[in-house]
Amino acid sequence: MKDSDFTTEPLGQNLIKLIGNLCFSVFVFSVLIFTVIAITYQPPDPWLESAPALTKLFTQSENATFKNDNSILKTGEDLIAAAAPAVSPAAAVNPITETVIEKSEEKITKMNLTSDCEDLKVVNCSDPRVLLAVEKFNLRVFKSIVFLDYRTPVNGSKPDECDVAWRFRNKKEKSWRKYRDFRRFRFSNGENCTYKVVHASGWHSGINARRPRNRLTPTRSGGTAKLSPPVRDEEINDTIPSLGSDMAFRKGKYLYYSGGGDYCKGMNHYSWSFLCGLGEAMYLNRTFVMDLSICLSATYNPSNKDEEGKDFRFYFDFEHLKEVASVVEVDEFLKDWKKWDQIHKRKVPVKKVSTYKVTPMQLKKDKSTIIWRQFDAPEPENYWYRVCEGQTAKYIQRPWRALWKSKRLMNIVTEISGRMDWDFDAVHVVRGEKAKNKELWPHLDSDTSPDALIAKLQGMIQPSRNLYIATNEPFYNYFDKLRSQYKVHLLDDYKELWSNTSEWYNETMLLNNGKPVEFDGYMRVAVDTEVLYRAKTRVETFYNLTKDCKNGINTC
Ligand SMILES: *[C@@H]1O[C@H](CO)[C@@H](O)[C@H](O)[C@H]1NC(C)=O
Ligand SMILES: *[C@@H]1O[C@H](CO)[C@@H](O)[C@H](O)[C@H]1NC(C)=O
Ligand SMILES: *[C@@H]1O[C@H](CO)[C@@H](O)[C@H](O)[C@H]1NC(C)=O
Ligand SMILES: *[C@@H]1O[C@H](CO)[C@@H](O)[C@H](O)[C@H]1NC(C)=O
Ligand SMILES: *[C@@H]1O[C@H](CO)[C@@H](O)[C@H](O)[C@H]1NC(C)=O
Ligand SMILES: *[C@@H]1O[C@H](CO)[C@@H](O)[C@H](O)[C@H]1NC(C)=O
Ligand SMILES: *[C@@H]1O[C@H](CO)[C@@H](O)[C@H](O)[C@H]1NC(C)=O
Ligand SMILES: *[C@@H]1O[C@H](CO)[C@@H](O)[C@H](O)[C@H]1NC(C)=O
Ligand SMILES: *[C@@H]1O[C@H](CO)[C@@H](O)[C@H](O)[C@H]1NC(C)=O
Ligand SMILES: *[C@@H]1O[C@H](CO)[C@@H](O)[C@H](O)[C@H]1NC(C)=O
Repeated sequence: MKDSDFTTEPLGQNLIKLIGNLCFSVFVFSVLIFTVIAITYQPPDPWLESAPALTKLFTQSENATFKNDNSILKTGEDLIAAAAPAVSPAAAVNPITETVIEKSEEKITKMNLTSDCEDLKVVNCSDPRVLLAVEKFNLRVFKSIVFLDYRTPVNGSKPDECDVAWRFRNKKEKSWRKYRDFRRFRFSNGENCTYKVVHASGWHSGINARRPRNRLTPTRSGGTAKLSPPVRDEEINDTIPSLGSDMAFRKGKYLYYSGGGDYCKGMNHYSWSFLCGLGEAMYLNRTFVMDLSICLSATYNPSNKDEEGKDFRFYFDFEHLKEVASVVEVDEFLKDWKKWDQIHKRKVPVKKVSTYKVTPMQLKKDKSTIIWRQFDAPEPENYWYRVCEGQTAKYIQRPWRALWKSKRLMNIVTEISGRMDWDFDAVHVVRGEKAKNKELWPHLDSDTSPDALIAKLQGMIQPSRNLYIATNEPFYNYFDKLRSQYKVHLLDDYKELWSNTSEWYNETMLLNNGKPVEFDGYMRVAVDTEVLYRAKTRVETFYNLTKDCKNGINTC
């Protein structure tokens, strides 16, 4: 690490010292929030000044002070301002509200169905009044859900039952992504020739309403996977786009990053670097060439080793990325490039850039088809994010809005919250390295002990409630004492959602050339975080459970 990088900055040492006390992930994410604010309100970039200090954090070797507790993982969809939920125009569907229901009621009245109640003796699932009863019931019971569309109910297992399927959004999720549920309802006659729901079964109980699915997912190697499981999320379309004709390739403009010391570093480092590259591509109006194959660092792997060949789509929403940014997959890109050079006498114009010190502003006028940044210098000179340092930070904002969590992981989140009928509270219990470090967090360990938790939670969460515990405590039985007070739920209680009989298992295997995918530590944190965010009452470790500071002693 060269100190000259910092001493030349007008910032001074004070800020660096101050920042040195911050855990780096916290820093990244506060920066991230600023970024979002910056995107929304367009003020001068507020985090510009701190970029060199951040670089220092990244380039220093692991140090307990900077240890991220890896227990929360925010991505773009968690940072959208509450006032402005992301709405994709293509995906906009009018929710089923009271008004919509009233209108259908009027329509039914006009159909004169209500003239004779005799026909209600037998429950006819395709009778529009059945659906109406379900719509009213759902709206009354699930206040945190936005219902988007229903399919016509079908017969259940008994004559007075119907299975009903619908799509919905959770009000707490700020993305526009839709999820599906299908439940079994039992009916009786209500007043004035209507049906009444007398019993509703749980999450995903209406199996007759579940549509059989058998779409094929093209794999990364270009082939089509042979497996066609009966159940899958047909709304995910994260196929890898191909450029098509070679003329289309030649017409494009690309930004290609190759090499780099970012490989196998932590996932925060990955996001920080990836979004720098993507931000530069957006600034230059170029298509970003991305490698979907990533290396997951040891900290997230049960094997405790770095693991290569993880698919970007295991973790992030590639479909959303395709919609908001122009990207091309590296293998497709290299194939087309080679093909072009073979067929045509004139080679594709390429501008090679071998140091991050060449800024995006200097490349702005370059007309080459491909701008190829080669990150071959020794570490830390070869980190991608260094491109976005210094003056450049004034021009390039990391497009955090492009990075959402994988829909396949979000389906697990929805399933967990759905099984609790969205009626649960949650506590975030940070333990792990921080609890062990008595110097920086003197009380954390005792404040998060089972007895302390019972005592503290009593005032905040009613007894017998569903309590989801999002935690990095590895010992499953650690929270057993709380079971006398609450219905405790832990991520591992839902193991079957990623076991070899699960939908997730089948779907991720398709992305992985038919090889099973392990549910790793990064996925665990992603799911834990999102379930936590869906709770009715949320108790945080810092501020609510302990007076210790999030970033170590004397930082709050
Ligand atoms: C780790 O932190 C300690 C004090 O907090 C400091 O003295 C040491 O130099 C740091 N190590 C590295 C590799 O940065
Ligand atoms: C419904 O009944 C009313 C009166 O009984 C009649 O005027 C009207 O035409 C009927 N509508 C339909 C669609 O049959
Ligand atoms: C059920 O209701 C639908 C729609 O109103 C109607 O077309 C169908 O004939 C009814 N079936 C029976 C068995 O009553
Ligand atoms: C649904 O059940 C009714 C009687 O309960 C029956 O008449 C009807 O044929 C069934 N519909 C289907 C599609 O099986
Ligand atoms: C049934 O109809 C009567 C008369 O139209 C009305 O007063 C009553 O409120 C209705 N009941 C319900 C449950 O809608
Ligand atoms: C998936 O998205 C691609 C564009 O990225 C589109 O060309 C393709 O038709 C879509 N496939 C389906 C089945 O919707
Ligand atoms: C990118 O496109 C926008 C609008 O199309 C334009 O204002 C901007 O100058 C372009 N940037 C570059 C580097 O060409
Ligand atoms: C799933 O895993 C269990 C044990 O982990 C194993 O016994 C079973 O054969 C596996 N099933 C499939 C379909 O792979
Ligand atoms: C997963 O795929 C296997 C084999 O195609 C199939 O038998 C199983 O039902 C699928 N499981 C789910 C939950 O989709
Ligand atoms: C946790 O602490 C914050 C900040 O003091 C407070 O706003 C919030 O209400 C507390 N949560 C609970 C459940 O008491």
